Amino acid sequence: MEKLLIRGGRCLSGTVDIRGAKNAALPAFAASLLSDKPLTLRNLPDVVDVRTMQALMEGYGVAVSGRSTDVLTFDAAAAEPHEASYDIVRKMRATILVLGPLLARFGRARVSLPGGCAIGARPVDLHIKALEALGATITVTGGYIEASAPGGLSGARIVFPFSSVGATETAMLAASLARGETEIVNAAKEPEVADLANCLRAMGVTIEGIGTHRLLIQGTSTLKPASHEIVADRIEAGTYAVAAAITGGELELVGARLEHLAAVGEALEAAGVRLWPSDRGLMVTRPGPLTGIDVMTQAYPGFSTDLQAQFMALMCVAEGTSTIRETVFENRFMHVPELVRLGADITLKGTSATVRGVTRLKAAPVMATDLRASVSLVLAGLVAEGETVVSRIYHLDRGYEALDRKLKRCGAEIERVPA
Ligand code: EPZ
Repeated sequence: MEKLLIRGGRCLSGTVDIRGAKNAALPAFAASLLSDKPLTLRNLPDVVDVRTMQALMEGYGVAVSGRSTDVLTFDAAAAEPHEASYDIVRKMRATILVLGPLLARFGRARVSLPGGCAIGARPVDLHIKALEALGATITVTGGYIEASAPGGLSGARIVFPFSSVGATETAMLAASLARGETEIVNAAKEPEVADLANCLRAMGVTIEGIGTHRLLIQGTSTLKPASHEIVADRIEAGTYAVAAAITGGELELVGARLEHLAAVGEALEAAGVRLWPSDRGLMVTRPGPLTGIDVMTQAYPGFSTDLQAQFMALMCVAEGTSTIRETVFENRFMHVPELVRLGADITLKGTSATVRGVTRLKAAPVMATDLRASVSLVLAGLVAEGETVVSRIYHLDRGYEALDRKLKRCGAEIERVPA
């Protein structure tokens, strides 16, 4: 185990390389199972969740090769739908994304129900309904999902009751090999979903409506060798935007796209942060005082739930009061008691947090609980007086590549030490 020591008070300045999105890489890895031709993925982040997904692919017999961690080639010609090891599956919920491709290509799949998760129940009922609409027979027994479609899948109209990133991706992956056309209504339109569609298109799948709530997919029986560059990680970009804002510094986020911040970019601007496109990505600075504003998390292009904790850290040192409502997950305020240990003034009431800005935070030992909560503690530590110690940082390493090195290069006083 390791921990981070952070001495607050430095203004960050310089550039940060924003890598490919973890949440686009994971479904793209799953897409490799659809094909007996090679798929090369570029701009991959070197994070634990991606390494876990690579191990899962190799467990299915996918040959994964690459001279570096950011470019990998997947050859699933010899892949088989046997059971993945529970040890891998229990680590990450995104393993559910192999269900659709295995079923579509082999006509059967047995996948463990994803393990529990700190931020909420996170059921997979919509994934299952989508596959049943495509003709699969699915039973859930003993903690496993058993899916079969011996005659293959047939295109269908799938209408989701609300936007689900993972369920939309499961439907897209399965529909890619289904006979005929599949219409997905109320599809999630997060940039990572659009990126999976672009990856599938490169593999030879015809998809219309990319980036909208309605997708039309023509299933095919022949895929082709493909290469795809993973979209930049808007959550990593938003995290470093908050780092610039909270320290009153200026950062250039190389590879980031302002439009992918959507409502988060609007909220940062309303709070007094300035963001504008640069020829390499995105500039972020905070020229004057921070103002407390109200936000509510929603599906894209609404305010991303994956940036809620980071934005809350910023609001802790803003002038005035802000209300932050979490509508996507039922338990995504675990960073609150830890931020309060740093001197923040936050009260929780149901799905809403009221944050009263304070003039300064004070260092303290704090504990990471989940990926995005962890990084909000690091952001608060960048401005807390004294040395903040963040423990259990394995949560951070699941989704952030070299966070401490990147922050140190921009002037932060931060050290990774053995716990
Ligand atoms: C994806 O999770 C992301 N993970 C999450 O990022 C992100 O927070 C989430 O989308 C929302 O944007 C990956 O892409 C690997 P959902 P996912 O299905 O697909 C409910 C991070 O920090 N739901 O859009 O699981 C669900 O409980 C992670 O990088 C059902 O009820 O999210 C939630 O309330 C955390 N039934 C809501 O939908 C289902 O079958 C939205 O979840 C599926 C979801």
